[in-house]
Amino acid sequence: MPETVLVTGGAGFIGSHTCVELLGHGHDVVVVDNHVNSSPEALDRIAKIAGRPLAGAYRADVRDRKALREVFSSHPVDAVIHFAAHKAVGESAARPVEYYDTNVAGTCALLAVMHEQRVHRLVFSSSCSVYGDAGTVPLTERSPVAPTNPYARTKLMCERILEDVCDHLPQLKVLALRYFNPVGAHPSGLLGEDPRGVPGNLMPYVAQVAVGRRAQLSVFGDDYPTPDGTGVRDYIHVMDVAEGHRVAVGHLDDRTGMRVFNLGTGTGTSVLQLVAAFGEVSGRPVPYRVAGRRAGDVAELVADPSAVAAAWDWATTRDLTAMCRDAWRFQELHPDGYSCRPPRAGGPTTGESPCG
Ligand code: NAD
Ligand code: WQD
Repeated sequence: MPETVLVTGGAGFIGSHTCVELLGHGHDVVVVDNHVNSSPEALDRIAKIAGRPLAGAYRADVRDRKALREVFSSHPVDAVIHFAAHKAVGESAARPVEYYDTNVAGTCALLAVMHEQRVHRLVFSSSCSVYGDAGTVPLTERSPVAPTNPYARTKLMCERILEDVCDHLPQLKVLALRYFNPVGAHPSGLLGEDPRGVPGNLMPYVAQVAVGRRAQLSVFGDDYPTPDGTGVRDYIHVMDVAEGHRVAVGHLDDRTGMRVFNLGTGTGTSVLQLVAAFGEVSGRPVPYRVAGRRAGDVAELVADPSAVAAAWDWATTRDLTAMCRDAWRFQELHPDGYSCRPPRAGGPTTGESPCG
């Protein structure tokens, strides 16, 4: 049954693709986003791709209970997907209070208002980073958790809070999805990943090198115990992540309480494999140099996705080629992201961009 879904952080990378997916399956979608890490432009593009408008879009902070109440009062919200959060691992160590405030206090504010408004169905954005380096791959939902940075601790803390609140409120239904490494873009090229400043993550960095916005990639370590020595991750197409959320909303009523699922493909890809795949798809070899290991990195993080497959009869379908192809299409169409103008024809195509 189509429902009205409130999407916090709906203008962000994963949120925007999820809005398209929800609209495409008949849901009405309301977005709350303060645009601290996104462009309002994404909202127009969501409507353009979906061929119909959002039911509502509010520039508001999820910690602002009064603003949230107004949103809930204006729409018949059936379920909430809570993406709004800060997500940069390195930054979280430099600005821990901001991370705990937005990620943990924001989740508490949302839960309080949901309870007041009698909305009891929630899909929560968790992260594979809660596993840290304690487990052996592939990681199941029962693998030990051992977060290694403040960002990951905020996500685990939210999971714990959600468990406690579910114990207290028997009507509550929560699905916490631990995504592995979401990458790629909408196949239209209209929506994609537009990080502010220097990308911290591999795929957007590679894409910016390929488009000439950055000179070369630094490969963080080639001495890991992996086949080629570089870090191995479970990259998952953002459209599969979006689809997973739409499917999750349909499974919220399977039972009450809190459930945790991995969202990954089960396939590991090394840094050099991704660089090679991107070069092939884009036709632009990606220059790189091997640098030292990045603090806090682990050798390998790969999901066991079988729990989701069993519970929802659903699995990811898009491979690494599709991830690179779609990321490249977005990057090529938006060399400087949503907010900066494309370079002048005949202008410089290499070097650092003034957009950061
Ligand atoms: P993103 O930064 O692109 O999107 C987050 C959105 O939330 C942005 O639009 C931002 O403006 C908004 N936001 C942040 N703080 C807010 C606040 N206080 N009030 C309202 N809006 C606020 O990030 P993303 O990659 O789309 O990630 C979405 C969610 O998925 C996050 O919770 C993140 O922790 C989680 N996650 C992301 C990844 C990943 O690699 N991208 C992996 C695992 C989990
Ligand atoms: C992938 C691989 C790097 C950049 C992060 C968060 C995690 C989750 C997903 C939110 C690693 C290497 C990277 C570069 C490189 N996000 N790399 N050069 O660290 O696996 O996961 O995003 O929840 O919480 O920690 O992703 O894309 O940063 O790195 O060599 O310039 O690429 O060392 O092996 P990561 P990533």
